[in-house]
Amino acid sequence: MKEFNDTKEKPDNQDNYIPVDDIESSGFQVNNVVLTNVCKDPDSPGCKECLCQYNRLEEARFWSRIMEEHALFILLGLPCDQSKHREKAKFFINLFSGLRKRLDEACKLEGDLLRDLIEAVKAIIEFKAELLRHNIECRKAPGSNYPLLLDHIRREAERFLSLLQKPVPQDSLELLLEQEAFWLRIMKEHIEFVIHLLDPSERELIEQAEAFRKTFSRLLETARDLLSMNEVRPKNFNTVIRFTQDVVRNTTQLRDFKAAAFELTILCELLSIVSTPLLLDHIRREADKFLSELEVLLPEVIKCHSTLQ
Ligand SMILES: [Fe+2]
Ligand SMILES: [Fe+2]
Repeated sequence: MKEFNDTKEKPDNQDNYIPVDDIESSGFQVNNVVLTNVCKDPDSPGCKECLCQYNRLEEARFWSRIMEEHALFILLGLPCDQSKHREKAKFFINLFSGLRKRLDEACKLEGDLLRDLIEAVKAIIEFKAELLRHNIECRKAPGSNYPLLLDHIRREAERFLSLLQKPVPQDSLELLLEQEAFWLRIMKEHIEFVIHLLDPSERELIEQAEAFRKTFSRLLETARDLLSMNEVRPKNFNTVIRFTQDVVRNTTQLRDFKAAAFELTILCELLSIVSTPLLLDHIRREADKFLSELEVLLPEVIKCHSTLQ
């Protein structure tokens, strides 16, 4: 496996595969979450309300690009005789492309822009759900859009919608555990998609991916257990800190694996049925997004919900 730990060194021909803006110009892979009401003292009453507020504009920019790319992946996976769905996928590519331009120029997420964005996300959720229903009911030829992929991108859109509709600050520990349960499922599924898209002859990479799948299945199960235990509202939960450090370590490795797979595909050194290398860059960006959220939340949880300093 090629070492490729720094995607800031963008391969020369990468833009051939990225129809939208480049990775750097998006600029929200780190520090895309803004904290307010930062706690200084773990025993202070303020820690009970240690709230985190997302920078909604940056979130919207990140997720709108993701939505545009989902529509592209759907299009690439649809059989050529499903012209109605293909047209609809193109419609969403254009819709989110236009919204992204408006988001780039906006200083605040409000008014018509927010309304249009919510409507667009609701519409793409319904489109993904419709395709999934058709697939489950065997009403249309499935093409190469796996049902789990359609469900996966539908869930990502649901998350975006909930961020737009109720970006309500929560307790940092609860927020951390919720994000871990959400993202670890996403990370596990990314690995499953990669395994099913690699050529069977890519045995070494499939073996590495299998090891990741086992690790992330285990982490997801633990995250769900911890989320459930947190319902009793413990004042301190040191185990979550240790667990999160483990999640960061493993997600960083997975992120590097995705970046390396992207580079190999760009260089035409990988055998697969991946429809576009952009898919590998897309899942790498989602891993970076998860890491950036952990980077912000973990110190808050250490301060407010642990006896560790
Ligand atoms: Fe996605
Ligand atoms: Fe994803």
